Amino acid sequence: MILVTGGAGFIGANFVLDWLAQVDEAVVNIDKLTYAGNLETLASLKGNPQHIFVQGDIGDSALVDRLLAEHQPRAVLNFAAESHVDRSIHGPEDFIQTNVLGTFRLLESVRGYWNGLPADRKAAFRFLHVSTDEVYGSLAPTDPAFTEENKYEPNSPYSASKAASDHLVRAWHHTYGLPVLTTNCSNNYGPFHFPEKLIPLMIVNALAGKPLPVYGDGMQVRDWLYVKDHCSAIRRVLEAGKLGETYNVGGWNEKPNIEIVNTVCALLDELRPRADGRSYREQISYVTDRPGHDRRYAIDARKLERELGWKPAETFDSGIRKTVEWYLDHAEWVRNVQSGAYRDWVRKQYEAGA
Ligand code: NAD
Ligand code: DAU
Repeated sequence: MILVTGGAGFIGANFVLDWLAQVDEAVVNIDKLTYAGNLETLASLKGNPQHIFVQGDIGDSALVDRLLAEHQPRAVLNFAAESHVDRSIHGPEDFIQTNVLGTFRLLESVRGYWNGLPADRKAAFRFLHVSTDEVYGSLAPTDPAFTEENKYEPNSPYSASKAASDHLVRAWHHTYGLPVLTTNCSNNYGPFHFPEKLIPLMIVNALAGKPLPVYGDGMQVRDWLYVKDHCSAIRRVLEAGKLGETYNVGGWNEKPNIEIVNTVCALLDELRPRADGRSYREQISYVTDRPGHDRRYAIDARKLERELGWKPAETFDSGIRKTVEWYLDHAEWVRNVQSGAYRDWVRKQYEAGA
C-alpha cells in the first residue's frame, strides 16, 4: 500500500492511473479537491478496490494520522500543492498554507507514524516529495542547465513556497532521520492538464476561437517533459533513490514559449483545421508579461540517468502530438472543466457510494 497526496490533480492523477495499471499495490489517495482536483480524471478507477479516495487536506493532522494508522502504507508520495505561478502572484496565501504549512504538518504526521513502525518496515519506508525546477531561479541564455548542486533562488511566491517545502523535507531527514527523497522536475504536459497552464490553455482557446495570450516577448524558455515520463521517474526514484538525495527530472526539451504555441497551432491546423482555412496562429496575442517572470529554466537530468538508469521515453514531437490528440478526443472532460461541472463529480461519487 502507498499513500499519495494530491492524486486528483494533473500529475498525481496521471501517477495513480499509471501506478495501478503497472503495479499490483493499492493506493490511498488524499486530495482536498481544490479547483485543481478533478475526480472525473479518475473515473476509470471507479469500483477498483485498489484505489481508496479520501477528500481531505494534507494539513489535517488528525485525518492524515488516522489514514496512516489504518492503511499502514510503505511509502507516502507528496504531490499535493498549489501549483500555478500566476495564481501565486495574485493570492499567495493558499500557497503558504498548503505548500509550506501543509507539507510541515504532513511531515510531522509521517514522522509520528514512521517512528512507530517495527524496525524492518521503518527501514523500508520512504517519503517522496515532488518538487519543481523553479526553486533554482532563472538562468541566463548561456548558463549551464540546473544540476542538483545549484543553489536555491526562488523568484515567485509559488517557487518560494516549494523551496520552503523542499527545505523542510531536507531538515526532517537531517534532524530526525526520516527517509526522504525529493524530485525537482521541469514543466510537465500531457493528458488531464488543467487549462490554466500554457499548453492546454492554448489548445482550448484555439479551438474556442479565443486569443492565445503570450506573455511579454514569448522568448522565455522552459524544459518540457511528458507527464508519463515524470511518473516513471518518480517510480524509479521511489524504488532505488538514495535516501536524503534530490533528483532533477527533465526532458532535454528546452523551448521558447512562442515555439510551443506555434507547434500547438501547427498541430491543430493539421488535425482540426479552422473552418475559414486560416491558421490558428492568427489568434496569437502578445500580452503584458507576468511580474517577475523567470526567463529560462533548463534541467540537467544526468544524475537520474547515471545513478538510476532513468530516461524519458517520449520526445517532444511525439508527446505534444499525443497531447493535442488527447484534448481533441476528450472534449467532454474539457467542457466539464470549463463549465465547472467537474466539481459535481465529488457529489456524484459520494452519492454513488464510491
Ligand atoms: P495540480 O494543481 O494539477 O494538482 C494539485 C492537486 O493537489 C489538486 O488535486 C489539489 O486538489 C490538491 N491539493 C491542493 N492543496 C491540497 C491540500 N492542502 N491537501 C490535499 N490536496 C491538496 O498540480 P500538478 O501540476 O499536478 O503538480 C503536482 C505536484 O508536482 C506539485 O507539488 C507541483 O509543485 C509539482 N510540479 C508540477 C510541475 C508541472 O509542470 N505541473 C512540474 C514540476 C513539479
Ligand atoms: O517548471 C516547473 C513548473 O512548471 C511547475 O513547478 C509549475 O507547477 C507549473 O505550473 C509550471 O510553471 P510555469 O509558470 O512554467 O507554467 P505555465 O504553464 O503557467 O507557463 C509556462 C510558460 O508560458 C511561462 O513562461 C509563462 C508562459 N505563459 C503562460 C500562460 C498560462 C504564457 O505566455 N501565456 C499564458 O497564458
